[in-house]
Amino acid sequence: MVMANPVPHPHPHPHPHPNPHLLLVATGGTIAGRAASDQDNLGYRAGELSAADLLAAVPGLAGVPLRTLQLAQVDSKDMSHALWQALVRTLAAELAREDVAGVVITHGTDTLEETAFFLQRVLAPAKPVVLTAAMRPATSLQADGPQNLLDAVTVAQAPGARGVLVAFGGQVHAGDEVRKIDAYRLQAFDSAPAGPLALLEDGRLVPLRPWPAGQALGAALCDRPLAAWPRVAWITSHAGFDAGLVDAAVAAGFHGLVLAGTGNGSLHTELEAAAARALAAGVALRLSTRCASGRVIGQGGGAVPASPTHSAAQARVALLLELLAAV
Ligand code: SIN
Repeated sequence: MVMANPVPHPHPHPHPHPNPHLLLVATGGTIAGRAASDQDNLGYRAGELSAADLLAAVPGLAGVPLRTLQLAQVDSKDMSHALWQALVRTLAAELAREDVAGVVITHGTDTLEETAFFLQRVLAPAKPVVLTAAMRPATSLQADGPQNLLDAVTVAQAPGARGVLVAFGGQVHAGDEVRKIDAYRLQAFDSAPAGPLALLEDGRLVPLRPWPAGQALGAALCDRPLAAWPRVAWITSHAGFDAGLVDAAVAAGFHGLVLAGTGNGSLHTELEAAAARALAAGVALRLSTRCASGRVIGQGGGAVPASPTHSAAQARVALLLELLAAV
């Protein structure tokens, strides 16, 4: 059942609602992508189908009490802090409603790990917020979106489920651990070294680890005007590194930089020298690794503090939030 958008409940209540429902927030992505042919898995446009179209492709959702909200229609490569701010405001209001049992978010795969990490750090919700996506457009013979959406709803309905989660390819990952690991294969996400929280086998949820808990930074943090959000980028160390990139970022007024080093966070000598100049200029630096898995162990290769997160993408979001809290 797809409900019309009701008016928010003015008095959130601590007791379970007798008729809870889920909210489906659609933001775009390949899951809502359309191509001219069912053989075309590359030449499609992301974010074309509506939330209602996505639901219509999954007959198994017909009886599920579900309300929809089309928040955006973006290719997630273009994910913005403005959309994150809108997501946080929407989720904070919706999760406070006693009749909302959980939220499913459809998203592009490309920056899904950044949004999931951001939402878990900011909200650490006591109800499930389940992101899902697809590697093939809705028009493809190989479309993986319908099953992923059905699985996401199964997770959001699971008793005791909580936190920001990612349901994808028959696995459930923690939002602050997940990583996109493949550019094309259907099994595109992983959360090594810890691994998935649960599996979805033929529609059945098989728990492996406890649902995530955690301390929320709080939605109010994201109310700061976007112009006041710190400018944070990430820069990768590589052969023939040109330090002009770092110097230009400092001159342009960036507040924070994540340096993705080689291996366990070692930096090209040129980058190391530029990092020292950036630190002296008051720019916050964090060290990460450009490796596809693992994180910097110990202090890594130098004077730059190592990020405790597993990926440079997560490290950038963590530094952004740290600096936002300090504004
Ligand atoms: C996107 O991230 O929006 C496009 C790619 C995808 O969803 O797989």
